[in-house]
Amino acid sequence: MRILTGIQSSGRPHLGNILGAILPAIELSRNPDNESFFFIADLHSLTTLKDGKLRDEYVRAIASTWLAFGFNTDRNTFWRQSRVPEHTEMAWYLNCFTPFPMLANATSFKEKSEKLADVNAGLFTYPVLQAADILLYDANLVPVGKDQKQHLEMTKDIAAAVNAQVGSEILVLPESRIDERLMVIPGIDGQKMSKSYGNYIDIFVGEKDLLKVIKKILSDSTALEDPKNPDTDITFQLYSLIATDEQTAGMHANYERGGYGYGHAKKALHEVILAKFQEPREIFDYYMNNHKALETKLEEGEEKARVVARQTLSRMRQALGFGS
Ligand code: TRP
Repeated sequence: MRILTGIQSSGRPHLGNILGAILPAIELSRNPDNESFFFIADLHSLTTLKDGKLRDEYVRAIASTWLAFGFNTDRNTFWRQSRVPEHTEMAWYLNCFTPFPMLANATSFKEKSEKLADVNAGLFTYPVLQAADILLYDANLVPVGKDQKQHLEMTKDIAAAVNAQVGSEILVLPESRIDERLMVIPGIDGQKMSKSYGNYIDIFVGEKDLLKVIKKILSDSTALEDPKNPDTDITFQLYSLIATDEQTAGMHANYERGGYGYGHAKKALHEVILAKFQEPREIFDYYMNNHKALETKLEEGEEKARVVARQTLSRMRQALGFGS
């Protein structure tokens, strides 16, 4: 099974991205029956982020995160979308098979155009570039969150329109895998952890900065000596996502017994993050500080990605009368 997914480079990955998307994807990639194509959607990020320095930092941070958590780039393919120009060429062909109303009625476009001051054409055709990302690699399975469901439906519709026009199945229709159980990771204010809410935990910052953020996690005003409800507390929830079952049971008992404050729990959360992510933190720093090493990994991936992308594009060009 060929699995493909992309992550937009619009921020540094935070704990929510890591637990909710990156680790489950790496887990899927470990299945020997699967071949994974994971890429950084840096062209998509240009729709909302214009600052090149920031983009460069975010791209490196995302790539370093995948490597930090052990994504096997020898067995799989890992690249920057912008370094494989076949994506944009494919997107043009697909644009010409995409009905205008389909884009105009897309939920994500409507939401973004209400919220953002800069409503550019890139935002409008965003789903077409995404369709190109997927169709270029003959992906069978695209694991994404619920918010991407409509984009995948559009990808299938566009691919079907091309196949119908040229009279053969030159494009593979992907299956979406919307994982309903996919964890929603709470942010420090209890809403879904998200860059746009500013409530995220960046596990790669220095120990002191990490503690500062953890101290800001919302808690109620139950007195230190009183018993507390672990199940409604954000610090406990985050702890239970990272700690072992035994550690979690221990903290659960501490909450119910009383005499254990939120400050204690936060200190324990800080410790468990540092312990559990010690190795990823080191690897992350290594790649963030060694541009060459990171660049080499990405360039290797880009060469592999281009081989596959060129083949699909050649089928497409021939079918549409552009030669090969
Ligand atoms: N739109 C996706 C998101 O914001 C990112 C993305 C771009 C993507 N191209 C893709 C996801 C192709 C899956 C497949 O999360």
